[in-house]
Amino acid sequence: MRIILLGAPGAGKGTQAQFIMEKYGIPQISTGDMLRAAIKAGTPLGLEAKKVMDAGQLVSDEIIIGLVKERIAQEDCKNGFLLDGFPRTIPQADAMKENGIKVDHVIEIDVPDEEIVKRMSGRRVHPGSGRVYHVVFNPPKVEGKDDLTGEELVIRADDEEATVRKRLGVYHEQTKPLVAYYSEEAARGANQYHKLDGTQAVDAVSGQIAELIG
Ligand code: AP5
Ligand code: ZN
Repeated sequence: MRIILLGAPGAGKGTQAQFIMEKYGIPQISTGDMLRAAIKAGTPLGLEAKKVMDAGQLVSDEIIIGLVKERIAQEDCKNGFLLDGFPRTIPQADAMKENGIKVDHVIEIDVPDEEIVKRMSGRRVHPGSGRVYHVVFNPPKVEGKDDLTGEELVIRADDEEATVRKRLGVYHEQTKPLVAYYSEEAARGANQYHKLDGTQAVDAVSGQIAELIG
C-alpha cells in the first residue's frame, strides 16, 4: 500500500504515521525527519537545510526529490510506503509522476490554522525515532520521556509561534494546491482521495483512517 499524508504543519501527519506504520507494516518516509537527522549529523545538507527550516521556508525541490527517490528505491519500500510531508509542492508531485511512483491513497488531514498554533506550543518529539507527543492531547507515559526508550523529549526548533505562522503561510501558498491536484488525479482514477476532520481526537482520526483504507 502506498499512501500520501497531506496536511498543514501540525495537522497530525507524524502522529497518524505512527499508527499507519504499525497497522499496515509499511515504512514512514518523513522528509522533515530526514532533514532533522541530517542537521543532527552535521552533514552539508543538514547545514544548508537548518537555515531554511528555522525560517519556516521549504528546502529546494531538487534536494528533496533526490532524497525521496533514493529512499523509495530501498528494499523496505518494495511493498509500499507512507509519505509524510512529501510532496508539498506541485513540482514535487510532478516529479513523482515522472518517475512512475504511483500512490493508492491520498489522505488529507484538515485542521484550521488557529487550532494548529495551539497544538504546536505543546508538541514534544523524540529525536531518535520521530515519535510525537503533546503535553495535553497525547502525553507520554512519563512526563518528558519517550514511551519506548525512556529518552528525553525535546521541543522542535521551528515550533515557535512566529515560525509556525510562517509555515502555515507557506502551506497555504505552496502545498494547498496539491488538494486540487490529487482530487483531479482521483477523478481520473489514479488514486483514492480522502479528506478527514483532523480536529477530532487522535484515536478517532486513526479509526477513520482504518475504515477508509481497510
Ligand atoms: P515537517 O517535519 O514535515 O513539518 P510539517 O509539515 O510542518 O509538519 P509537522 O511535523 O510540524 O506536523 P505534523 O502534521 O506531523 O503534526 P504532528 O503529528 O507532529 O517539515 C519541517 C520542515 O522541513 C519544513 O518546514 C521544511 O522546511 C522542510 N521540509 C520537509 N519536507 C519538505 C518538502 N517535501 N519540501 C521542502 N521542504 C520540506 O502533530 C502536531 C502536534 O499536535 C503534536 O504535539 C501532536 O501530539 C498533536 N496532535 C496530533 N494529532 C492531534 C489530535 N487529533 N488532537 C490533538 N492534538 C493532536
Ligand atoms: Zn511531522
